[in-house]
Formats: sequence, C-alpha cells, structure tokens
Amino acid sequence: MTERTLILIKPDGVRRGLSGEILARIERKGLTIAALELKHVSTEVAEGHYAEHKEKPFFGSLLEFITSGPVVAAVLEGPRAIAAFRQLAGGTDPVEKAVPGTIRGDFGLETQENLVHGSDSPESAAREIALWFPGLA
Ligand code: CMP
Repeated sequence: MTERTLILIKPDGVRRGLSGEILARIERKGLTIAALELKHVSTEVAEGHYAEHKEKPFFGSLLEFITSGPVVAAVLEGPRAIAAFRQLAGGTDPVEKAVPGTIRGDFGLETQENLVHGSDSPESAAREIALWFPGLA
C-alpha cells in the first residue's frame, strides 16, 4: 500500500553538505519525492513539530537546534514509506543504535544532531505533512 511520510534533513545535515547524499539514498531506495523545500523553521512550526517532546528535558535545546539553520523538508511516497525511511535513517542515537550503512550510522555522532527526522506512524505523518506542507492535498 502506498504511504506518505514527512522527512527533514536537519540543520546539521544541511550545514555539512549532506543533503545531496541523503536525497540520493532516498531515491536509490525507490521512494518517490512528492514535495521538497528548503525551509527556515519558525519557533512555532518547531514547537508544533516536536509537540510530543514538550515535557522532555532536551526540548529547549532541540528547538534551538532545529531553528539554527535551514532544513530540507520533504514528503516521500512509496510502499511502506514510513518504515522504509526509518530503516534508511537508522536508530535515533547514531552511535549506540544506528548501524553502519544507515544515514545516522554513517554520518552521525550525537543523539540531538542526528541528521534526519522521519515520521514514526501514519498519524504523525498526516499531522507533520499538514504542518510542513499545508498546500499538499
Ligand atoms: P527525531 O527523530 O527528530 O525526534 C526527536 C528528536 O529529539 C530526535 O530525533 C533527536 O534529534 C532529539 N533527541 C531525542 N532524544 C534525545 C536526547 N536524549 N537528547 C537530545 N536530543 C534528543
């Protein structure tokens, strides 16, 4: 079944010039890029995006990080797109969880600056797509 997911290349990935490498991996996997935009994230969008982490001790620094520079936001489409992108990304902690061969496993060292975000469920994907790409049907 075709599914959609919202992904971000976070400010660390854009700053380090890894956007092309990450998008190439997405395309090689076979996922379709349905929408793509370089965006400067407002605090309002960042708070909406990370609403579920509001009570976490790292929430403040997460907002600061995600608004520290442009992000590449994209909607990906394909069979099991949500799980497929999370497989490409690797686990949240780039050292303890993500294995080599994944985006975080190959390029990351820190849990916060972990290069990419991908929706974790169909409900989050619908909410995040509406937040980042309100014009997309
Ligand atoms: P993401 O998949 O975008 O979802 C929540 C983000 O919070 C996560 O990636 C990390 O960037 C960040 N995060 C999660 N856990 C921690 C942590 N323990 N310390 C700092 N940042 C974290």
